Amino acid sequence: GKVRAPTHIISTISDDRGEEPCYAGVPMSSIVESGYGVGDVISLLWFKRSLPRYCTHFIEICIMLCADHGPCVSGAHNTIVTARAGKDLVSSLVSGLLTIGPRFGGAIDDAARYFKDAYDRGLTPYEFVEGMKKKGIRVPGIGHRIKRGDNKDKRVELLQLFARTHFPSVKYMEYAVQVETYTLSKANNLVMNVDGAIGSLFLDLLAGSGMFTKQEIDEIVEIGYLNGLFVLARSIGLIGHTFDQKRLKQPLYRHPWEDVLYTK
Ligand code: ACO
Ligand code: LMR
Repeated sequence: GKVRAPTHIISTISDDRGEEPCYAGVPMSSIVESGYGVGDVISLLWFKRSLPRYCTHFIEICIMLCADHGPCVSGAHNTIVTARAGKDLVSSLVSGLLTIGPRFGGAIDDAARYFKDAYDRGLTPYEFVEGMKKKGIRVPGIGHRIKRGDNKDKRVELLQLFARTHFPSVKYMEYAVQVETYTLSKANNLVMNVDGAIGSLFLDLLAGSGMFTKQEIDEIVEIGYLNGLFVLARSIGLIGHTFDQKRLKQPLYRHPWEDVLYTK
């Protein structure tokens, strides 16, 4: 029979060998002719399947709501400083992206992991939050530098409203809301943040859509796909900040001495 030469790479999400590239088997022309959006493309390339419209719409809302949050946040600040140092677009972009992590924008996967584990084990919000405190771990998806119980994050409210209207079930989100109610009873800064909202709602999307097996959901949560949503979204804003600084011909940034506490 035919002897297949061993390959060094396995790839399962896209194929460019035919007349036109395919994403998870769907040719580019179908993507365009069917009026697919970026949510559909993410579904094909990340999840290797077409998801129902309410899911792809939800993904698109996440992307739009997380695209930017002003010049003062960690990512934009780094990008602005880098652009003002005369660096190119890619350098300015990645400089901002590198701030995304457990404190800033990159808490979505851990929020999904911890909320899923706590909900699936039937922990009360009290048991979950106090258990985290005992372990010395901050609850991912809870807390914000400027948002408060009496000044909640509009993005969280918009995502929750969309899901309550369109998702078949929002059990993980409701659990995260109960956790927030408990944390807010402890301190006014411990609101659900956008990472917590996306993390809990994506669990509902995965579990409620009927498009994923339990094993696939566990794998998605374990590998950590969801921070990718913030990385992708915020790239839009960081690219915008780079162009903005170049357009404004901003000089090299130097932080003022007065804003530094020099001490021994
Ligand atoms: N869980 C438990 N306690 C918390 C949490 C949390 N998630 N967040 C803050 N606290 C407590 C702190 O322990 C602190 O108490 P302490 O001084 O007695 O230790 C108190 O609240 C005040 O916290 P600060 O450190 O002043 O809060 P800060 O404004 O520096 O932190 C941050 C904000 C980094 C977002 C924090 O709330 C956090 O680590 N949250 C979890 C990670 C997360 O979800 N990040 C995503 C944020 S949204 C985004 O970036 C788009
Ligand atoms: C963001 O989306 O960048 C913000 O939630 C973070 C911040 O510090 O305001």
